[in-house]
Amino acid sequence: MTRRFVTVLSILAAALLGAGDVVAKPDAAPGDGRTPLPLLPMMAEHQKLQMRGHLQAVNEIVAALAKDDFAAVSAAAKKIGYSESEAQMCTHIGAGAPGFTPTAITFHKTADTIAVAAQKRDRAGVLAALGATLGTCVGCHAAYKQQVVDEATWNQLTHAR
Ligand code: HEC
Repeated sequence: MTRRFVTVLSILAAALLGAGDVVAKPDAAPGDGRTPLPLLPMMAEHQKLQMRGHLQAVNEIVAALAKDDFAAVSAAAKKIGYSESEAQMCTHIGAGAPGFTPTAITFHKTADTIAVAAQKRDRAGVLAALGATLGTCVGCHAAYKQQVVDEATWNQLTHAR
């Protein structure tokens, strides 16, 4: 068997078995149309931690509502409600992405309506407010995607405006 034949075989095998290699890797794929939310690595970690906390709060709201525990609904809703310090954090996170901060603030203010309904023991009102709040989660996720950047890029993006 010649060396050339072996080479041909290995090229064939590579073409068949290695076909996956030419498929674009997800992170190499072009953008999916969402606006990048530029963040330094530590901020990106922090933002995702916040997000998992938001999901946990929603979980607590639903579980409390199932038991008609309106005090617990209200307490859980306040974890995602509006505050000055929350608004400051959203302003920092959104500094490099036009429109992000107002979207975030609308989310927190919508979440406040959950506690308002809970204080009235208004079950349908809690569900409607929760639905509206989840709508703001969905809307922001459809619009923005994290983009981890280095310090130079962050400074350029945030000092330019
Ligand atoms: C103002 C924008 C905004 C709002 C509002 C928002 N999120 Fe997010 N969320 C993001 C971004 C940006 C990411 C990162 C997505 C990416 O990079 O693909 C994210 C990621 C997440 C993740 C993934 C976290 C991880 O560890 O990877 C969860 C869970 C999540 N969000 C839950 C929620 C829930 C629940 C709500 C509403 C109660 C919510 N988010 C509201 C912007 C938002």
